[in-house]
Amino acid sequence: MIPTLIDTHAHLYAKEFLEDFDQVIARAQEKGVGKILLPNIDQESIARMHFLSQAHPKLFIPMMGIHPCYVTKEWEKQVNTVETHLSQANNYCAVGEIGIDLYWDKTLLDQQKKSFRAQIKLAIKYKLPIVIHARASFDEIFDIVDAENCPELTGVFHCFTGSTDQAHRIINYGGFKIGVGGVVTYKNAGLDQVVAQIPLEHLVLETDSPYLPPVPYRGKRNESAYVSVVANKIAELHDVSPTKIAEITTYNATALFGL
Ligand code: NI
Repeated sequence: MIPTLIDTHAHLYAKEFLEDFDQVIARAQEKGVGKILLPNIDQESIARMHFLSQAHPKLFIPMMGIHPCYVTKEWEKQVNTVETHLSQANNYCAVGEIGIDLYWDKTLLDQQKKSFRAQIKLAIKYKLPIVIHARASFDEIFDIVDAENCPELTGVFHCFTGSTDQAHRIINYGGFKIGVGGVVTYKNAGLDQVVAQIPLEHLVLETDSPYLPPVPYRGKRNESAYVSVVANKIAELHDVSPTKIAEITTYNATALFGL
């Protein structure tokens, strides 16, 4: 059965969900969420991510990668660990999340860049899409994707918050989708007007749980059930039914991640 909605980005292995995990899954399934993709963060998040995807193999699909905020001076060792996992298991749907984050700390920019590039190469080698985290770093990300882009490279710009020009640049790569989450419901973000102009064939839905919950849940913990709120908002912006949004974005995610 094809799921109604897919949350393409949720950190449900995080400690924020330990207490009421079963209810979080139940609420997501009530809203029609049939698949939840789990982006990896660092060495420490792997065990519980694997545990969840083995306990619920139809619902949770893991990714493998090192998040830019967790890249260290030992980046080569970290990338080797990623490759070891990629070579040992075949249920990863992507290399992610990877990218560059210059919002908090710029001191390891060089290592972040090298880690990102090396993980793009792994994605091409293992024929997987990449899930890109770009925060205060669009120029650096675009430089690297410009250099590495090829017909085999596909992926998502996760939690997209850029401009219409940046959206077009992503679309023009050919193999990339735009991941839209709760920020599209924020009044001052301006993302709603950008998303209104992006054709639906380029969009996938996400929550980035436990972060960035949509209105009216701001300030609370985000969870996968709220991906339906994001779908409803995009439906309003494109003046189509929420069912149509679900159909198109689920199709997009299924095709991109090989679900
Ligand atoms: Ni994330």
